[in-house]
Amino acid sequence: MIDYQPLYNTLLDVKADSWIKLLPRQLADALDSLRHGNSAKWQSALNSLPKVTATHRILDADSIQIGRPEDLSEADRVELERQLKTFHPWRKGPYNLFGIEIDTEWRSDWKWDRLKSHISPLNQRLVLDVGCGNGYHCWRMLGAGAKMVVGIDPLLLNVIQFQLIRRLHGEAPVYVLPIGIEELPRGLKAFDTVFSMGVLYHRRSPIDHLLELRDCLQPGGELVLESLVIEGKSGEVLMPEGRYARMRNVWFLPSCETLMIWLKRCGFKNIRLIDVTTTSDEEQRSTEWMQFHSLKDFLNPENPQLTCEGLPAPKRAIFIADNPLR
Ligand SMILES: C[S@@+](CC[C@H](N)C(=O)[O-])C[C@H]1O[C@@H](n2cnc3c(N)ncnc32)[C@H](O)[C@@H]1O
Repeated sequence: MIDYQPLYNTLLDVKADSWIKLLPRQLADALDSLRHGNSAKWQSALNSLPKVTATHRILDADSIQIGRPEDLSEADRVELERQLKTFHPWRKGPYNLFGIEIDTEWRSDWKWDRLKSHISPLNQRLVLDVGCGNGYHCWRMLGAGAKMVVGIDPLLLNVIQFQLIRRLHGEAPVYVLPIGIEELPRGLKAFDTVFSMGVLYHRRSPIDHLLELRDCLQPGGELVLESLVIEGKSGEVLMPEGRYARMRNVWFLPSCETLMIWLKRCGFKNIRLIDVTTTSDEEQRSTEWMQFHSLKDFLNPENPQLTCEGLPAPKRAIFIADNPLR
């Protein structure tokens, strides 16, 4: 069981009382859904993990390292690897757990490398990571000195993967909560830095998403926003008619210029575009730990500049912006 008291104490310090009132119910509801179907299987696998807590932990490396191979017997390591594989698919990482390399679908460390030298130092900051997946970047944020990191993600498998990594790591000021951004109360104004990476294009109303993100920030806080974008002029946006790279839930892909206008109109200041990268099939690919189709299967085999639907292939941009002091 995770002790949420340090989280409640911190939320109290930043006067996030409205969330403190909701959170116990939100956690209980998630626990409730964990008792059903696949989730029940994950919960019981989580409970039967070897009772070991690592003393060796490196959070500021490409592959998050928890435990050394020699901390576990060979039999326990084989068993741990077997259990970890019941939590397939592993999308975000990589991790090295007691010598077991979890080679995830994504090299999430590459995204971190693109932004880490551009963001305000995270030392002693209270950080929110919206749509954090299994929490890979949350650990990197903690490794970069954050006082506390709160990740939110509605997908239970992500939350469970995080919980098992946290179990092996031991107590730390990092949480991944099973909720979507729309479940946060309005007007929190609690966090020093808010990350939203890979979420904007999944929201039906991207402007509302930006306003929700701003609403989570303290005055003077920093937003780090990463999204799929298209080549195009100011004002241009692609709305796929159906799927995009096989994903059903993609709504709006703006050009970088358009996204900068959106940020400006939502009241952000000092808006900077710090990176644009076309996603490669070295960064996102099928592996032993994610055996489903991946990027290569979603592109046009004759022209990898296009998705299989004939739309521009995935390109991602990272923006940093300030929430004004007043
Ligand atoms: C493309 S992944 C990005 C993961 C991670 N942030 C990264 O950049 O590698 C998008 C994540 O957003 C989560 N998500 C979807 N809808 C959300 C919502 N309404 N609120 C918060 N997260 C959401 C998904 O479950 C998924 O884990």
